[in-house]
Amino acid sequence: MDGLSNLSIILFYIFLISILIFSVLMRDILKNIKKMKDDIERVRKSIPVLKQAFWLAKQENERNYERYRKLMKRYEALVDSILQFRPTIGVEKFMGGILKLGVKLIAEADAGSVILREGDSARFVSVEGMNEEIIKDLKLELDWFKKPKHDVEVYENILGHDEKSTMPIEVEELMKKAAGRWIYRTMGGRLQVADDTVGYIFLDTMEDREFSEESKKIMKFLVRLSNAYLTLKTLLEKESILQRDIVLSMVKMLEMRDPYTKGHSERVARYSARIANLLGLSGDEIDRIYWAGILHDVGKLGVPDAVLNKPGKLEPEEFEMIKMHSIYGEKAVMKSKYLKDLAPAIRHHHERWDGNGYPDGLKGEEIPLFSRILAISDAFDAMTSARIYRDPMDPSDAFGEIQVQAGKQFDPYIVGKLSLSTFLMEADVFI
Ligand SMILES: [Fe+2]
Ligand SMILES: [Fe+2]
Repeated sequence: MDGLSNLSIILFYIFLISILIFSVLMRDILKNIKKMKDDIERVRKSIPVLKQAFWLAKQENERNYERYRKLMKRYEALVDSILQFRPTIGVEKFMGGILKLGVKLIAEADAGSVILREGDSARFVSVEGMNEEIIKDLKLELDWFKKPKHDVEVYENILGHDEKSTMPIEVEELMKKAAGRWIYRTMGGRLQVADDTVGYIFLDTMEDREFSEESKKIMKFLVRLSNAYLTLKTLLEKESILQRDIVLSMVKMLEMRDPYTKGHSERVARYSARIANLLGLSGDEIDRIYWAGILHDVGKLGVPDAVLNKPGKLEPEEFEMIKMHSIYGEKAVMKSKYLKDLAPAIRHHHERWDGNGYPDGLKGEEIPLFSRILAISDAFDAMTSARIYRDPMDPSDAFGEIQVQAGKQFDPYIVGKLSLSTFLMEADVFI
């Protein structure tokens, strides 16, 4: 009996412990289930928020893509236009191109203008979206304009007169008339060569719009491109002025040694440019033949004084020495990067159409066109200039002689295009 009751007690305790363990386990399980339920509920509640966040992100992406696409299009247009720019094109054309591009690419801009210094004053070299006729001849001063502190600056109501304005009121009125509408904002860029301010570029908005950061960046880029171009142009001009000064002093040296040819090079240059104009050559070619004329006898610097200035008849060997001047001239200009393309014109300026000239005895169209032109100008000036041993020939007689020599000494086609007035014109509009 005792054994049975002991077993019952043991079983009872086992049961009790089991119940205890079970209830502890159940409590944990229930707790976990509750947690899971809460988690599910939280996730369920956050689904619409996530859905909305996803939708917003998608929208933002689409907007970014659209912005990026527009930006790409703008930069493509920018690159396309830049590729068409050459430093050799004129300042007005270049700056006009930059301004057009600015108005096209900067969406806020309705109008624009470029002002450049010219000597002591300044003027509008290009205008977009304004009445050009009213302002194109205005004499301006750069100081009248608000100088941008940085590369680019935005002004409110640029034509609003205040105590700081130095622009004469009548100029301001004309500019307002040219704009035709109220100018709300202006984005200004300073054009400069080194530290020197040479002008301004302005883009105007005629409605109450702000210029975006992207537009400011594009403007900065256009200003920098313009400044690079203007600097290059100034350097090229300085170099070519220096080059021309050197050439002219060489020619002056020659004229000092050979006083009877005083002014000869200049006249040959002018006649040759007129002939080139009559033949329809380009402005660039007219400019080049002018300089070939200036230089055609520069090789005489290499001929001894005694021979060059001999008053009487020349001995055959002396004449051979004189003839060398066309080769010396060719060699001299070959040394200059800017003048070497004139070398053939100089070498052959004493060739004759019939092949009896020097130094190479070239015939007809074998002779460079520039040399055929120079030969006519040279002969006309030699005939009409005084020499120690003879009086100058009358211009009409000299021109008659040129005509007689057509097909012998000179290219008959060119002579056929000329008249006496070719050599008598006072003013040269194309030089
Ligand atoms: Fe000559
Ligand atoms: Fe000459």
